[in-house]
Amino acid sequence: MSTIEQTLAELQGKNPRKVLRHALENYDKVAISFSGAEDVVLIDIALKIRKDIQIFSLDTGRLHKETYQFIEQVRKHYGVDIELLTPDYQLLEPFIKEKGLFSFYEDGHKECCAIRKVEPLRRKLANVDAWITGQRKDQSLDTRQDLPEIQIDSAFSTESKPLIKFNPLVNQSSAQIWDYIEAYQVPFNTLHKQGFISIGCEPCTRAVLPNQHERAGRWWWEDATKKECGLHIAKDII
Ligand code: ADX
Ligand code: SF4
Repeated sequence: MSTIEQTLAELQGKNPRKVLRHALENYDKVAISFSGAEDVVLIDIALKIRKDIQIFSLDTGRLHKETYQFIEQVRKHYGVDIELLTPDYQLLEPFIKEKGLFSFYEDGHKECCAIRKVEPLRRKLANVDAWITGQRKDQSLDTRQDLPEIQIDSAFSTESKPLIKFNPLVNQSSAQIWDYIEAYQVPFNTLHKQGFISIGCEPCTRAVLPNQHERAGRWWWEDATKKECGLHIAKDII
């Protein structure tokens, strides 16, 4: 059994705090990726374990103003630094020049996400040994059902450096996350009061109707099976 397999066996089915504790106590260079949505609970729990946590957000330049306001609110509320990662202008400017600002409605979101999200993420992940995400199984019946608590990130590992990815909220339901937010008075993005469940970039996110699945509000013009932007395509679990 590899070390990761052993750790997975230990962490499987454990609560978010146990998984976070393992990540924060065993990795010095570890960062939490914060989308500006309900994954704020990761920050709330992590700070109870360790004060000097690294947090980053991918500032695509296309987030809702409410999300920018929320990032600021979280920064002040917890007294933490949130590193904002911006796209490389040498990639972004020619892309916009050639295709305009809304090409994703015509030929899919992959290209824009690659420039605005994946490339900045790759830059950041080159400087850490592990990262922590707020992904949950219940967020996608199509793409997130096999998520483990810990995995080797096959998308962002390099030959010389394996990258570990932790998903502490993996088995939590949306209802459990919202219970936690309520119980511990955690601040939340005001878009959630306007019918938004899953929150991404403004042009690619919309509110959902009662009983619609949350991913229905993301890249709604595309196939359900394509609703991943490249941050989380790691298939290899161990
Ligand atoms: S996405 O791939 O569809 O955009 P989703 O919105 O479900 O991802 O969020 C899942 C997790 O991915 C978040 O909890 C967070 O860890 C990470 N993530 C998504 N968007 C961002 C972002 N803009 N900045 C930082 N992390 C992000
Ligand atoms: Fe571009 Fe939409 Fe992807 Fe944001 S979610 S990076 S706007 S395609």
